[in-house]
Amino acid sequence: MLLSRLFFVVCQIFLLHGNRFLELESCINPKDPPRKTSWSSSLQSCSEFSCTSNVILRKTWFSSEKPRIPVTIITQLSIDRKEVLQRQCKSYMGPVVAAVYAPLIQPDWLNASNTPSEHNEQYLTQIEQQLTAIHRSVLAPGSCQLTMLLFYELFDSVSASVLYPVNALRNFARMVAQTNLIFPLDVDMLVSKSFSNLLSNHSEAQKMEKMSAKQIAFILPALEVVTGGLQVEQASCEGSKQAIVEQFNNGVLQQFKKFTYPLGHRNTDYRRWLSNEVFDADWEPGYEPYMVLHWDHLPWFHIGFKGFGLNKVSFVADVHHRNISFKVITKKLVFCPSACKRKKALQINFSKKHCTAEMIPPSMYDLLAWIPLFQS
Ligand SMILES: *[C@@H]1O[C@H](CO)[C@@H](O)[C@H](O)[C@H]1NC(C)=O
Ligand SMILES: *[C@@H]1O[C@H](CO)[C@@H](O)[C@H](O)[C@H]1NC(C)=O
Ligand SMILES: *[C@@H]1O[C@H](CO)[C@@H](O)[C@H](O)[C@H]1NC(C)=O
Ligand SMILES: *[C@@H]1O[C@H](CO)[C@@H](O)[C@H](O)[C@H]1NC(C)=O
Repeated sequence: MLLSRLFFVVCQIFLLHGNRFLELESCINPKDPPRKTSWSSSLQSCSEFSCTSNVILRKTWFSSEKPRIPVTIITQLSIDRKEVLQRQCKSYMGPVVAAVYAPLIQPDWLNASNTPSEHNEQYLTQIEQQLTAIHRSVLAPGSCQLTMLLFYELFDSVSASVLYPVNALRNFARMVAQTNLIFPLDVDMLVSKSFSNLLSNHSEAQKMEKMSAKQIAFILPALEVVTGGLQVEQASCEGSKQAIVEQFNNGVLQQFKKFTYPLGHRNTDYRRWLSNEVFDADWEPGYEPYMVLHWDHLPWFHIGFKGFGLNKVSFVADVHHRNISFKVITKKLVFCPSACKRKKALQINFSKKHCTAEMIPPSMYDLLAWIPLFQS
C-alpha cells in the first residue's frame, strides 16, 4: 500500500511540469507489452497495482484553465455515458477529472494481436472525436474545467469484459487532480449551484481546506427526485436550500436511494440537515455518502473492487478506519442525481458469493465481512 502511495505522489509531482500526457502515460501504462484480459485474469485478486496493467491510457484532454474552485471532482464512466458527464460538468464551476473507459472485444480467432485491430482502432478514433466534441462543448464560463483521460482494455471475450475496473479508474482520475480537496463523485450526480457559489468564495474554500487537513471529511447530502423528472432536478440544483426544503417536505425530493438502499445515506440525518443544524455523522457498516476529502487523507481506492457493488461502501469504511470524522455540510449545499437511469450492464452472471470472495483480497475481506452484500 505504502509503495503504491509513493508511486502516485511521485507521479503527481511530475505531472506539474513538462509534457503531461507523456508523463502520465509513463506513469500508468505498463512497461511490458500490453496483454488481453481473459475471464480468469479479470478475476485475479489484486494486492497492488499489478492487475490493472491491461488498462491502457490512450489519450488525454487537459483543461487549459486553472481550477476556478479548489475542489476537484474525480469521476469515471464507460464511453456510452459521455452525455451524462457533459451534464455533470455543466452543473459545476470547478475542475472535473473524468476517466473514460472503452472495453474492446478482440477474440483471438478474430485477431490474435495484443494491440487494437483495425476495427478497434477505428472505434477508438471515433470515440476520440466524440470526446473532443464534448471537451469543446463545455468551454463556457459556467461549466467545469474538464480533464478527460481515455482508457481502453482489450478482452478476449465479451464475458471477460463484464467487470468494469471502477476503482482503478478513480485512482487514475485522482492522479491528475491539481487541488488539495478531492471530491470523488459518480458521473450521474449533479452538483448544486450553491456548492459552486459557496466555494468560489476564497475564504470559504480556505476554511474547508484547513478543516479537511485535520482529518475531516465533508459529506454532501445526496437527494433524488421522486416526481417531476428533469425539470424538477434542474430547478433543485439551481435553487435555494429553502426551495429544496419545501420540495423535500412535499415528497418531491427524497434521500438518495431511500428505498433501494436506505443504509447508504441513513446516517446523514436529512431532517437535521434540512433544519440547518451543524452535525457530525456517525459511520456504520454500509454507509456510503459522497464526501470531499483532503488529498493527504484520501485513501486510494482499492483496485480489487471491479464491477458492481461494495466499492463505495468499502471506501467509506476505509476512511472511517483512518480516524477521519464525517461532518455534514449544512450551508446551502446539496446535490441532485441526474434522471439518467443507472445501467444494469455490469451484472455478473455467476454466484454472488463466489464473486465476492474472488474480488476482495483477504485483508479487505476481513474488514468487509459484515457488509450486507450486493443490495440491489
Ligand atoms: C490484427 O491487428 C494488428 C494490429 O492492429 C494488425 O497489424 C493485423 O494485420 C491484424 N491481423 C488480422 C488478421 O486482421
Ligand atoms: C466570503 O465568505 C466570508 C465568510 O467566510 C464572508 O465574510 C464574505 O462576505 C464572503 N464574500 C463574498 C464575496 O461573498
Ligand atoms: C485511530 O484512533 C485510535 C484511538 O485513538 C487509535 O488506536 C488507532 O491507531 C487510530 N488509527 C489510525 C489508522 O490512525
Ligand atoms: C446467465 O446464466 C444463465 C443461467 O446459467 C443463462 O441462461 C444466461 O444465458 C446467462 N446470461 C448471459 C448474459 O450470459
